[in-house]
This record gives sequence, structure tokens and C-alpha cells, in this order.
Amino acid sequence: MGKLIFTKEYSVSLPLVSAGMAMVTGPDLVAAVSNAGGLGILGTGPMPTELLRRIIASTRVLTPKPFGVNLIVEETTLGPASTFEHVQVCIEAGISPVVFFWNPPPATWFAALHDAGIKIWLTVSSVVEARHALAGGYDAIVVQANEAGGHVRATESGLSLWPAVRDAVGDMKMIAAGGIADGRTAVAAFALGADAICMGTRLVASGESLAHPEYKSAILRAQAADTSVTRLFGPEWPDAPMRVIRNQALRDADDGIRESGPVGQTRLFGLDYVMPRNSAILPTRETSGSLEHMCMAAGTSVGRIGTVEPAGALIARIASDADRILRECGQRMR
Ligand SMILES: Cc1cc2nc3c(=O)[nH]c(=O)nc-3n(C[C@H](O)[C@H](O)[C@H](O)COP(=O)(O)O)c2cc1C
Repeated sequence: MGKLIFTKEYSVSLPLVSAGMAMVTGPDLVAAVSNAGGLGILGTGPMPTELLRRIIASTRVLTPKPFGVNLIVEETTLGPASTFEHVQVCIEAGISPVVFFWNPPPATWFAALHDAGIKIWLTVSSVVEARHALAGGYDAIVVQANEAGGHVRATESGLSLWPAVRDAVGDMKMIAAGGIADGRTAVAAFALGADAICMGTRLVASGESLAHPEYKSAILRAQAADTSVTRLFGPEWPDAPMRVIRNQALRDADDGIRESGPVGQTRLFGLDYVMPRNSAILPTRETSGSLEHMCMAAGTSVGRIGTVEPAGALIARIASDADRILRECGQRMR
């Protein structure tokens, strides 16, 4: 018997995954995506394990469907973004898949998840990283292209990266991420070799995302050229390239203007947090201050986003548009 297709393997009805975005993707968004037939992924970041346990439980109240958890593997000034205890919480809760980002997890974490029968995904940015993931025994790779919003290390666009990775990894499950926001871009990703698609920026501008309303409005106004990859943001997570919407903070940096002092305040993982200049902490519903000086992570797909809608409605439309576009492509190619 051949390998199961993505929807069968993950018991979902659509091959569509929401990005686990720290600070932005909470239980409401994850449940909305899973209830719509996709696979929601909870964002975490360096949150206390007790909070992780709580948001998993809250999501379970909102959906009977499967959902995953995203764990960032990196040291931050707020502490390690994930620890073995975070992994243990996922194991105890029976979460599958667990999606690792930025760095591969230590072997002990991988072994514990594997022994518990949990699917393990790794986010990769190049053919070389994809080959390592294949050799490392991961169940799937999220292939993040340069178009992506948020932290991004890929230098290649999806158009060249996804087919190259597909050729390199054979029939390993590949989830394409970066620049996908509608039926047309979804179909393109499948044509380039994806088993499933992952959307981040499109879902930041959804009703359920925790992003600040002005951040959502900035996504609606922006075009692809209004985003750029910068290392400006991040006393909390230094020297990591990130695709963001260009705002006053970037223009000041370009002009050599160096201000000091905080830019606002927020609640971060349940605690008050004063946001330093060029903070990498994303503005949420609980943030006040100058969003023109905050980090608004977003990808090139901003140009294709013109509405803030409930995630379920977005997903249903993307799925039906993709079906129609596939038929139209077939007709055009005859
Ligand atoms: C606001 C925002 C926050 C993000 N946070 C995370 C994160 O915590 N962990 C992660 O694996 N990826 C994160 N990403 C990257 C996404 O997982 C995904 O690769 C990206 O959003 C895909 O590109 P798109 O934004 O064009 O859809 C984030 C992306 C955005 C836009």
C-alpha cells in the first residue's frame, strides 16, 4: 500500500494548515481552522508550560477535531522558547503533530515524541535542510519560502524552492508555506509539489486572530513591496531575519535615526510587558502604544488580502476557489 494522502494521514477534510504563530494564533483561531476542516496549529513562543497546558485545554473545548502545536527551538532573552517540559505537555495531551521551527529539536525531544507515536514536523528553508529532515526521520517538512511573514531564513521563492525540495525528498510529506493567501496561490503550491499548504499572514487578518486591529488594517492596506526582510526587530530574539510591514521604525532605521525608550506595553504570556524600542513582540489586542514603531510581521501575500473575515469563511472560500481555478487551468491548457 502506498503512503496515505495528507488528509487521511491527519484525519482532516482539507489539506490546509494554519501557521502556529506565537502571540497571534490562540485557541479561537486554531479551533476555527480545525472546525472548518483544516489543521490548526497553536502558536507558543517562550510561554510557561502551565499556559501551554491551559491553551491546549481551551482549544479542546472549542473543537473535537485534531490540531497541532508549534514549538520554536531557540534561546531568547525571555528564556528558551521551548524546553523538554513543553514537549512533555504535548505528549501528555496527545497532540499531533508537533511542529518545530527555526532549529531542529534535541535528539531526546525527538525520541520522546516518536516513542509516543506523535507526528513530528520540521520547518525547513532550503533543499539542504530538507535532506537533513528526510535523513532525520521527520514525518513531514514545512517548507518556508522567502515570501513568508515572520522569521524567515529562506532566500528562495516558493516557485523555485518547493519543486526543488519535492525532487529532493521523494514522497515525504511537504507542506508549502510563504505567500499563500487565496485559491490561486494555493493551487500554485500544489502544482509545485505540496501535499498541503500553510497560511500565516492571511490568518493574521482573520476575525479570530489575536493581532491588534491596527495591525490587521495595516495588512489590508499593504502591498507586497511594502514588506521587507529585516534584522531590526528583536532585543528579545536578536539578529534573526524577519519579514515585516515597513513602517516608521524601518524608515527611521534607514535614515539613521536612533531613538530610545519604550514603544508601548502589552500583556505577554499573562504578564505585563513594557515593549523596548524595536521589540520583536507582535502587537495584539492587549497592546497599547505606537504601532508605527512595532513589529508587524507579514509576508508578501499582504497584496492579496483585502478583508478581515472569520477564519472558517476564509478557508471555505479558498477551498472552493482552488477547485474552480484547477478546472479553469485544465481548460486553458487544452
Ligand atoms: C505574525 C507571524 C508570526 C509567526 N510566528 C511563527 C511562530 O511562532 N512559529 C513558526 O513556526 N512560524 C511562525 N511564523 C511563520 C509561519 O509559520 C509561516 O511560515 C508563514 O506565515 C508562512 O508565510 P505567509 O505568512 O506568507 O503565509 C509567523 C508568521 C507570521 C506572519
